[in-house]
Amino acid sequence: MTRDTPTLWGGRFTGKPDEAFARFNRSFGFDVRLFEADVEASIAHAHGLRGAGVLTEEETARVTGALRTLVQLAAEDPKYLDLESEDVHSFIESRLIELVGDLGKKLHTGRSRNDQVATAFRLWLREEIDGLQTDVRSTQTALLAAAERYAKAVLPGYTHLQRAQPVMWAHWCLAYFEMLERDVERMADVSKRVNILPLGSAALAGTSFNIDREAVARELGFDGVTRNSLDAVSDRDFAVEFVGACSLIMVHLSRLAEDLIIYATTEFGFIQLSDAVSTGSSLMPQKKNPDALELIRGKAGRVFGHHAALLAAMKGLPLAYNKDMQEDKEAVFDALDTTRICLEVAAIVLNNLSVNEARTREAATNGYLNATELADYLVKKGVPFRTAHDTAGRIVLAAIEMGRELHEMPLAKLSAISQDIGQDVFDALSLETTLNTKGQAGGTSPARVAEALKAARERMDGQ
Ligand code: ARG
Repeated sequence: MTRDTPTLWGGRFTGKPDEAFARFNRSFGFDVRLFEADVEASIAHAHGLRGAGVLTEEETARVTGALRTLVQLAAEDPKYLDLESEDVHSFIESRLIELVGDLGKKLHTGRSRNDQVATAFRLWLREEIDGLQTDVRSTQTALLAAAERYAKAVLPGYTHLQRAQPVMWAHWCLAYFEMLERDVERMADVSKRVNILPLGSAALAGTSFNIDREAVARELGFDGVTRNSLDAVSDRDFAVEFVGACSLIMVHLSRLAEDLIIYATTEFGFIQLSDAVSTGSSLMPQKKNPDALELIRGKAGRVFGHHAALLAAMKGLPLAYNKDMQEDKEAVFDALDTTRICLEVAAIVLNNLSVNEARTREAATNGYLNATELADYLVKKGVPFRTAHDTAGRIVLAAIEMGRELHEMPLAKLSAISQDIGQDVFDALSLETTLNTKGQAGGTSPARVAEALKAARERMDGQ
C-alpha cells in the first residue's frame, strides 16, 4: 500500500524533494523496527502533554487510543507499514492524523524527531539486550553441557599452538564460559546507560512546555532522564558501546570457532562435528567442512566493521543532532542480528559435537607436556626453579634423541643428568599427577574443575 505521506516540514519549502534524494534520505525501510517503541514513547509523551495542559483528558484518550490502533493495524496487515514514508516517526504521525484528524497534529508539541528517535532507539535496544542476554546464556549452557558430557576427558593445552601442558576438556569449555560471563556483565552495564530518557530535550535546547520528564521516564521504565539536552539528542555512545560489546562477544565466538575448526581437522582429530552443522564439497567426496564455525569466524569481522563505522560516523559531528546519525541504526540492527544468530549456531555446534577422548588423552600424554612437571619435581627437591628448568630441558633433549617420552626414560639416564631424580619421578610425570597438582583456584585439577563446573551450573540455574 503506498500513500502520499506528507513531509513533516513543508511550510518553509516551495519545492519538492528530488526523487533520488528522497530515497537517499529515507530510513523507514530499516527504522520500521522501532515502530512499536516509537508508539509506546508517543503514548507516554501524550501523557506528558496532558500533564502540561497541552492535551485535555479526552484528547489524550483519543490520541493514545489511535496510537494503539496503529499497532493493531500493523499487526493485522504488515503491508500497513508503508515503506514510502521518510521515517518511522513521520509514518506514525501521518497515520495518526489520518485516524484523529487535526488533533494528531498536537502530538509533536514539545518534541522533536531528535529526542524522539533517541528515545525509541533506547527503548527498543533495552528490550533487545534482554533477548541477546538470553542467547548468551544458551551458549553458556551448551558449553556446560559439553563439559559435563566429557567430564573426564583430557586435552593438550597449547601456547603458540604448541603442546604445552595437559588440561581437562571441561577446563577448556569453562574458559569460554568465563568469556561469555563477562559479556553478560558488559551488556548489563551497557544497558544502564541505554536506559536513560532523552525525551523532553526537544530539538536541542529543551522544551518550553511544562512536561514532567521524570513521570514520562517512570511510565516508560527508564531509570532516569538525561541531564543535558544538547548531549541527549546527539549522544550515541550507548549504540557504540552496544556494538563494542557485541564485538567482544564475536571475538569470543570467533576464537571458539577457530579452536574447534583446528580440533576437527584430521591432523588433530580431537572432535567430531555433527553433520547438522557441516557441509560437503561439491567436488571432493570425502570432505566435511566446518562451515558453521567458519561463518561465525567470518561474521566477527562484519560486527567489528559496524563498530568502526559508528565511531567514524560520530567523530567529527558538531553538536547537536546531524543527519549522519541516521547511520546508527543499520549498524546496530545488523550487529545485533549477526551476534544473535552466531550465538545460536555456536550453541548448536557445541550441543552436537563429540570428543574423541582416546585421541585427546594420547595427545595430552605425548609431546613432553609433562616437562614443566619435571622441573616442578626438582623444585620440590630443593633445586632452584631456573636450574630445574635447565635440567628438565636437557632431559627433554636427551629424550628426543632417544625417541622416548619423559616417563619412558630409564631412571639411570635421568639420575645421571640430575642426582635429585629418584624412582618417585615416574609418579610425578604421570598424566594424573600432572593434572592433580594444578589444584589452586582457577587451576585445571579434576577436583577444581568439577567444583568450577558445579559453581557455573549453579550460577546459571540461579538466573
Ligand atoms: N530518521 C532520523 C534518524 O534516524 C530521525 C531524526 C530526524 N531528525 C531530523 N532533524 N531530521 O536520525
